[in-house]
Amino acid sequence: MSLLRIEDAGQLRQRLHDWRGDGERIALVPTMGNLHAGHLALVEQARRHCQRVVTSIFVNPTQFGPNEDFSSYPRTLEADLQALAGHGCDVAFVPGLATLYPFGPAQAHRLSPPLLADVLCGRHRPGHFDGVAGVVARLFNLVQPTLAVFGEKDFQQLRIIERMTVDMAYDIEIARAPICREPDGLALSSRNRYLDAGQRRCAPRLHDTLLALSRSWHEGADAAAISQAGERMLATAGFVVDYVEVRHEDDLQLAQDRARPARIFAAARLGGTRLIDNLALVASQEWRAGH
Ligand code: PAJ
Repeated sequence: MSLLRIEDAGQLRQRLHDWRGDGERIALVPTMGNLHAGHLALVEQARRHCQRVVTSIFVNPTQFGPNEDFSSYPRTLEADLQALAGHGCDVAFVPGLATLYPFGPAQAHRLSPPLLADVLCGRHRPGHFDGVAGVVARLFNLVQPTLAVFGEKDFQQLRIIERMTVDMAYDIEIARAPICREPDGLALSSRNRYLDAGQRRCAPRLHDTLLALSRSWHEGADAAAISQAGERMLATAGFVVDYVEVRHEDDLQLAQDRARPARIFAAARLGGTRLIDNLALVASQEWRAGH
């Protein structure tokens, strides 16, 4: 099957209605384009669970702050379409602004995720997750997928969407996709292309730091000590640090109970480029068994 490129909501609904009528399960992979192997792994995961895959490509203005990179965000539609065609995607949904925001972004209904959005990136990017929740809700309403796939690279975003899906009674299964990394450990990101050669050499230190901190956690360091050590290590490596924090996976509160699943989260800048990453802390017993 060749890839259909659809811009219009009515055309999308008609196509999906026909497939649903044939009993086919539809998966949605929301993206902002400039697709890399991380995005394409999400498409492949979707494909394994559903007969039809819709990938949306939309650089969503409402999730960017006034001084962020909305206007310079890489837009590579032709290459994206080729990549999707080669990875078993059925529809590239490429809506215009008026399709997602018929009254314009300033007049759009707003969704404000509670609590989960107040910490980590939410604290450093005010309004960001309102914009994410708002656009994902619109995509869910337009596509009405059986399943939607989100990457653990943006773990806070994933948790907010999981919570929103339950809270707003969407009948959609949310699938988690693991983080895809470069061979040197750098998490794939559309923003990596902003890095110059020196910054690119430095960037994997973010993941290295998370690995070192996970060892400290298992040797008994507490969440506060991990934060301090992580901030120091990243600053020494040349980053300007937004945060390094150990938080529980479910409610994103600061980790206190070692028996509950937790992750180390970090956001740090190299020049004007903001990188984020996170690492799951396996239960202490499991870690000891592997070391
Ligand atoms: P974008 O940054 O394009 O990411 C789209 C999806 O790809 C997200 O679910 C993200 O977590 C996942 N992803 C990105 N890099 C990844 C990597 N290295 N490994 C695994 N998954 C990765 O996230 C957004 O767009 C937007 O906020 C969006 C949800 C589309 C709403 O506008």
